[in-house]
Amino acid sequence: MNESTLQTALSNPQNLGEMPDADAVGTVGSPDCGDMVRMWLKYKDQDGRKVIDKASFQSFGCQTAIAVASLATELIRGKTKEEALQMSAAELSAPLGPLPPMKIHCGQMVEGALKAALEAESGVASPALSTSPSQPLGPTLVDSLNAAGKTAGKIKIVLES
Ligand code: FES
Repeated sequence: MNESTLQTALSNPQNLGEMPDADAVGTVGSPDCGDMVRMWLKYKDQDGRKVIDKASFQSFGCQTAIAVASLATELIRGKTKEEALQMSAAELSAPLGPLPPMKIHCGQMVEGALKAALEAESGVASPALSTSPSQPLGPTLVDSLNAAGKTAGKIKIVLES
């Protein structure tokens, strides 16, 4: 992970905070750590295309999620809904370099909040709520356990002595 890019994003996060006049909002919570990301989107017409004019976000606590969300809100500006929907968590966090395994869900949470906002049809009045990052199975045991928990509804862990 690129620590200097992380520190730059954290020391001066872009587009942090609620957007009162947003066209859409999406929220995703992570079962891994209890953190949440909410993203707001505002569209505009540009040359006959509806593109993202601006985006903002809130995140509670996790520095990686804040850094990825900050970068993502900049990256998606000027993109259409379809173009933004194509962006993966890895693309959104690309300036940070590969995330360590325990931080991959942070980027997925940002991607999930973005997609929830992009797919929110009726705007701010009914924020889309989701607890499912787009990639159900993570690369680590913890991620996989949590993914299993999401589909099964609960996790039972048995420790062998
Ligand atoms: Fe859970 Fe980053 S969002 S540790």
